[in-house]
Amino acid sequence: MTTSSPSLAHTTLLAQLRQICGDAHVLTHETPGVDLATWEQDWRKRVKGRALAVVRPADTAQVAAVVKACAAAQTSIVPQGGNTGLVVGSVPDASGTQIVLSMTRMNAVRAIDKDNLTITVEAGCVLQNLQAAADSAGLLFPLSLGAEGSCTIGGNLGTNAGGTQVVRYGNTRELCLGLEVVTAQGEVWSGLTGLRKDNTGYDLRHLMIGSEGTLGIITAATMKLFPQPAAQLTAWAAVPSMEAAVALLGLAHQRLGPSLTGFEVMGQFALSLVDKHYPQLRVPLWQETPWCVLIENSDSENEAHARSQFESLLEEAMNHGCVTDAVVAESLTQARGLWHIRESITLAQQQEGPNVKHDISIAVSLIPAFVAETDALLAQTFPGVRMVDFGHLGDGNLHYNVQAPEGQDGKAFVLAHEDAVNTVVFDQVSRFKGSISAEHGVGELKAGKLPLYKDPTALAMMRAVKKALDPHNLLNPGRVLSAE
Ligand code: FAD
Ligand code: MLT
Ligand code: ZN
Repeated sequence: MTTSSPSLAHTTLLAQLRQICGDAHVLTHETPGVDLATWEQDWRKRVKGRALAVVRPADTAQVAAVVKACAAAQTSIVPQGGNTGLVVGSVPDASGTQIVLSMTRMNAVRAIDKDNLTITVEAGCVLQNLQAAADSAGLLFPLSLGAEGSCTIGGNLGTNAGGTQVVRYGNTRELCLGLEVVTAQGEVWSGLTGLRKDNTGYDLRHLMIGSEGTLGIITAATMKLFPQPAAQLTAWAAVPSMEAAVALLGLAHQRLGPSLTGFEVMGQFALSLVDKHYPQLRVPLWQETPWCVLIENSDSENEAHARSQFESLLEEAMNHGCVTDAVVAESLTQARGLWHIRESITLAQQQEGPNVKHDISIAVSLIPAFVAETDALLAQTFPGVRMVDFGHLGDGNLHYNVQAPEGQDGKAFVLAHEDAVNTVVFDQVSRFKGSISAEHGVGELKAGKLPLYKDPTALAMMRAVKKALDPHNLLNPGRVLSAE
């Protein structure tokens, strides 16, 4: 790539940013020994942008000062946490004029209030560290996803991440009580309340959550904590059809009630990819059944109670014919092993080559019909495509991913057919009154599709909000809302 020297305005801005954050925390392509690819390349390697600089503030005052300086220089900002997002929302565009605002130095746990069941953390705190801090206090922070070792709570809030515990605890949105945010004007909104009730007007917290860095920069958050379960058991069940998986979910709700904390479905081809790329993980039951289900039972009494509840659920399910075989983990290590298999699907499909990735949601009751109809449509339009189906069936959220036919180059397939595949899938989602994004967000990848599937009045209100809060389009331009 050719490099051009920064303009005078950019040179002045870089000098200001260095003054605010310190030389060591303003990285450019000229910084010796630093490769900006870490911040410029998205996780799926779909896009590699070029930043003017990566700026790493240490506190909220520095974030505010950076935003003010960028606003004065009309330079746009891309907020970034762990850069694990899957929809191209956290990396700069190719212009070489954007600032990546990396939040990872702001990673402190500010406070834990055990009586109020809350924790206040800075936005760059890695999710796993937040979980560990809660655990050290004898409490639970339930948000859990495959990227938890590197994603940050700021990114989780920015995307309203879901994960594997939503069936019981809700999305990141439901876990958040308060926010501290730097606005597009560089003002600080101090909203770090731990209140569970507050009806003093518009709930700005909910505007910020899921806004993917387009409305403000989240610098800290107050999140809910929960009591730890007394015992946790995990079962892996073979189910004969998607209808059976939905029937099993109904039974699990009835029999386990609030102890049902996870309900994941995994298709045979998805599991075959884990078996192929990670044979050491020993995927159970996948060869004998089209679908497997992972169920988690978090009991508030004790292990014996959890086990007997689980056994009667599985027995009843077998009698109804919705489970054909099952294993219940005997230990925490075995349970972790089963979850590890589930979480490895994302990496296994990446190993297999790029695919057209989806994170759709449909009412649980309609999922079997959706899958049957859409599989048939895709097979007709793109003969030989392989469906990497898995996801959070408990929440009606499927990763309904379309992989190139056997032997075809994945990259070439995605390049040639992504738009047409999306049209087939999203038209079906719309027919079934679902959502084209249940958890990964819109980013850049789906910004062009949003106007086709979002209610026009809702879209107009979204544009009005963006204009009101960020009139000069400085925060993550082109993400969520495409240019009009
Ligand atoms: P980034 O990728 O850095 O940013 C994501 C978006 O949030 C961008 O638009 C960015 O601008 C914005 N943002 C980041 N920080 C801030 C901030 N402080 N203030 C304002 N905006 C900000 N997602 C799920 O929902 N469920 C899953 O189960 C799941 N599993 C995954 C498994 C793997 C292996 C991988 C790689 C990803 C997975 N994801 C999942 C996607 C991703 O991890 C989530 O979207 C996560 O919330 C992103 O966090 P991050 O810190 O990496 O954010
Ligand atoms: C998951 O549920 O594993 C994630 O959302 C990641 C993915 O879709 O690959
Ligand atoms: Zn997911």
